[in-house]
Amino acid sequence: MNAPDLCWKPLTARTWRDFERLAGPKGLCAGCWCMLWRVFAKEFQGGKGTTNKARMKRLARGKRAPGILVYADRNPVAWCSVAPRADFVRLENSKVLAPVDNEPVWSLTCFYVAPRFRRKGLAPFIIRAAGAFAKKGGAKVLEAYPVDTGGKPYAASFAWTGFASSFRKCGFRQAAKRSPTRPIMRRAL
Ligand SMILES: CC(C)(COP(=O)(O)OP(=O)(O)OC[C@H]1O[C@@H](n2cnc3c(N)ncnc32)[C@H](O)[C@@H]1OP(=O)(O)O)[C@@H](O)C(=O)NCCC(=O)NCCS
Repeated sequence: MNAPDLCWKPLTARTWRDFERLAGPKGLCAGCWCMLWRVFAKEFQGGKGTTNKARMKRLARGKRAPGILVYADRNPVAWCSVAPRADFVRLENSKVLAPVDNEPVWSLTCFYVAPRFRRKGLAPFIIRAAGAFAKKGGAKVLEAYPVDTGGKPYAASFAWTGFASSFRKCGFRQAAKRSPTRPIMRRAL
């Protein structure tokens, strides 16, 4: 099989249907529609399903796209949430992911790769695309919160922040580590 032709587009009103298709009936994962970091816990839980979907749709129609879609041979195969850190209100209350400093960073918080495209080395492409998108939006530094399993197997469905090795490959370096498996990684854009 030939390597697929990869490209990416921001999630906007124009690409919303592709996002819906990728997210499927589960709305990515248990009706999250990737709103986990963008609203506080109670609102998120209560909003699983249609409310979270409507929230994300509103963001997609807004001034700044809430992330990017990756396409393989024109089919949407992956999603990545990337925006200024301040958009992710849940980060505010996290001890492990509290700000490293006062730098106005952007955050890459979530991935979703369609199951049949996993384990094919797509993550670095997505990270680089997210970096290009963030830079275009004015970001100077991109931050991420991957899991570092030290190469051990990990349930893909719990690895929505990505794997640290993928970020290392894309030039990210550890900026803080307040939990053994959850570094904060950064890269200047
Ligand atoms: C986490 C995820 C993004 C990884 O994407 P991917 O395209 O499969 O990753 P890659 O094939 O590029 O692999 C990246 C690295 O992680 C490793 N890896 C991938 N899946 C792994 C797993 N389940 N356990 C341990 N390591 C894994 C790869 O071996 C590779 O390691 P290397 O850098 O040392 O070579 C993907 O599994 C995913 O989307 N999971 C579902 C997340 C989800 O449910 N999101 C919904 C909430 S919005």
